[in-house]
Amino acid sequence: MPAVGGIGPGTGKDYPGNLTPFVTVTCIVAAMGGLIFGYDIGISGGVTTMTPFLQKFFRSVWEKKEADKSKNQYCQYDSPTLTMFTSSLYLAALLSSIVASVVTRKLGRKLSMLFGGLLFFTGALINGFAKAVWMLIVGRMLLGFGIGFANQSVPLYLSEMAPYRFRGALNIGFQLSITIGILIANVLNYFFAKIKGGWGWRLSLGGAMVPALIITVGSLVLPDTPNSLIERGQTEEAKAKLKRIRGVDDVDEEFKDLVAASETSKLVEHPWRNLLQRKYRPHLTMAILIPFFQQLTGINVIMFYAPVLFSTIGFKDDAALMSAVITGVVNVGATVVSIYGVDKWGRRFLFLEGGVQMLICQAVVAACIGAKFGTSGNPGDLPKWYAIVVVLFICIYVAGFAWSWGPLGWLVPSEIFPLEIRSAAQSINVSINMLFTFVVAQVFLTMLCHLKFGLFLFFAFFVIVMSVFIYYFLPETKGIPIEEMNQVWKSHWYWSRFVEDLDYPNGGMEMGKGGQGVKEV
Ligand code: BGC
Repeated sequence: MPAVGGIGPGTGKDYPGNLTPFVTVTCIVAAMGGLIFGYDIGISGGVTTMTPFLQKFFRSVWEKKEADKSKNQYCQYDSPTLTMFTSSLYLAALLSSIVASVVTRKLGRKLSMLFGGLLFFTGALINGFAKAVWMLIVGRMLLGFGIGFANQSVPLYLSEMAPYRFRGALNIGFQLSITIGILIANVLNYFFAKIKGGWGWRLSLGGAMVPALIITVGSLVLPDTPNSLIERGQTEEAKAKLKRIRGVDDVDEEFKDLVAASETSKLVEHPWRNLLQRKYRPHLTMAILIPFFQQLTGINVIMFYAPVLFSTIGFKDDAALMSAVITGVVNVGATVVSIYGVDKWGRRFLFLEGGVQMLICQAVVAACIGAKFGTSGNPGDLPKWYAIVVVLFICIYVAGFAWSWGPLGWLVPSEIFPLEIRSAAQSINVSINMLFTFVVAQVFLTMLCHLKFGLFLFFAFFVIVMSVFIYYFLPETKGIPIEEMNQVWKSHWYWSRFVEDLDYPNGGMEMGKGGQGVKEV
């Protein structure tokens, strides 16, 4: 079978440019945008196991948990209001990423980040002082709006700033800060839960103001990307910026291609409708399926509910929070591995290896939980070694995700969209991601209650499907400049039928030099 996924014949382009300190620092600051997302993912699971928090806002869940002590463990946290607390945020993020796509296109990536930071800050403030459930939900919706803006703009910003040879590594800075955010949240929950007086949850929720401030201030000092400046007509400034970013004077070729890409994108009046054109079929497919599959790995079952899950399988509250810290550390460590490997081993290798690793672990965890809890959900006494085995395999699973679908779920979409559809396609990516984060968060506890240990097999099934999909349908994108990306579809066994020479007369570029050659957008 020709070119299932290997790198195509190449584009022959090699833009000069170094990994300058300027671009490195800029990307680190921008990547901090991931902190707000990560902090939130990590904080909610822990807070919802804190007794004072449950007593204050979700009394019925707490009473049920108390009364149920010796009965069915699978169902003790099953409450739609409690899951609504966790998942309302993702609905808001879904909606806001659509608005954010217009802002990122018209006002730039930087301003989107600023809005993200401010909205998130307000949400954190309301949550920290919450007196009633409605305040919690309103606060979380504001957090969600913030995340929608940040997740829309940060990955695009990073991919546009980075020299293409280091694009993978720099872009994964975003995922790294997501994982650091999750870990910090887990550690804080662990300590705040111990505060006498039971108001530690206020610190946990209000603490989100800190990452919000980091991204707010960060966005004020960051430069705009050359792509975005050109898109908004500031060509001279864009060229100067490109020289500064790349650390060389000879940026003519890259600059010309950026301008050409921008001219094409200006011809597009309806970026959304445009996405439906046949030649964007591969992009649209990836914008939908990659985030869908990322969430169907089941990762957020662990991220949101690790403490709940661990206490379900018999850990005391404290040990359950501690185990969440352990998975958090593994998550950060394994992300660093992908930063190291992504531009060396490529995206496909990581996707496929991670898939196999997750699959094995899901099968083992399902077997372990099934063996002890059966279908009644009543385990009797659990030996210590048993809990250790479960935590170990959950950690190996998290590592598998953290060097594959975690970072690549954000990297690959942000690098494959041509400029004329980039903002719109990215917002589809973010919306689908948030939609399925919402679905998983909302139905997980109910699914656990009904599917029992089979829940892990449900996600394992999807891991098989997604790995087969990657094998056949995702071309390798490592080491290809963004402006040249169409080449990879043209040389792909399946996608080549959609992306024809006619569409890209300039040897696989999105447009002819100086914007010629594209008539039908
Ligand atoms: C995903 C999140 C997930 C996180 C875990 C991200 O890439 O989008 O849903 O919680 O990784 O590290």
